[in-house]
Amino acid sequence: MLRGRLEGVRDGVLAASLTEFEKLLGHADLLTKLIEDLQLLSLAEAGELRLERRDFTMQDLLKRIGGDFMAKAEGQHIGLHLDMALEPVRVNGDPQRLYQVLGNVLGNALRHTPPHGNIRIQLRVDTQTLILEIGDSGPGFTPEALSKAFERFYRSPNRGRQSGGSGLGLALSRSLIEAHGGRIELFNNPSGACVRITLETILEEL
Ligand SMILES: Nc1ncnc2c1ncn2[C@@H]1O[C@H](COP(=O)(O)OP(=O)(O)OP(=O)(O)O)[C@@H](O)[C@H]1O
Ligand SMILES: [Mg+2]
Repeated sequence: MLRGRLEGVRDGVLAASLTEFEKLLGHADLLTKLIEDLQLLSLAEAGELRLERRDFTMQDLLKRIGGDFMAKAEGQHIGLHLDMALEPVRVNGDPQRLYQVLGNVLGNALRHTPPHGNIRIQLRVDTQTLILEIGDSGPGFTPEALSKAFERFYRSPNRGRQSGGSGLGLALSRSLIEAHGGRIELFNNPSGACVRITLETILEEL
């Protein structure tokens, strides 16, 4: 696709216009994302992924990602709600990698939620375990997606490559969460799709 269009511009078949260059840049970005995701996934699956762990609170991470995704949600007329535990929830993990997981899950939720819908991020703690649920008000996971969405390259049939998906997001998310010793599960609730992530928290010293 990228090569074909570049050849078109070179041969004068496609106009070397600003819109054409925007398209070419979009394709180059997709390729870069695909390569980065594949690289990370193979490292994670080989147990070679080095996490840069540090202590931080989950609320800080959620506020950051909530802020980053707010404009996109508002642009789609989707309400993005953060429902966070009151007490700081401390974790030891790689904030950049966990941000990446949440970014993929939120990106998926935004893609599947119709205008005027809602996405809710809920954080709670059960004994020492942090439970994070990202629920949307879209159509939910299809039965096929429920059983296959963690497979690499699985993506819904209507999600073409042009729309940006390579179907690696959830496979990568699972590897990254498992590298943290956590779990990630998919299910449907009455309003739509929900992704649940569980991670151990840092024990408060008594
Ligand atoms: N919130 C959701 N509601 C309904 N279906 C979903 C949702 N999130 C994911 N899915 C389904 O799971 C598939 C796999 O998701 P995944 O994030 O792995 O890939 P992708 O989003 O299609 O591509 P990529 O993440 O690589 O850009 C999606 O194509 C879609 O069919
Ligand atoms: Mg995705």
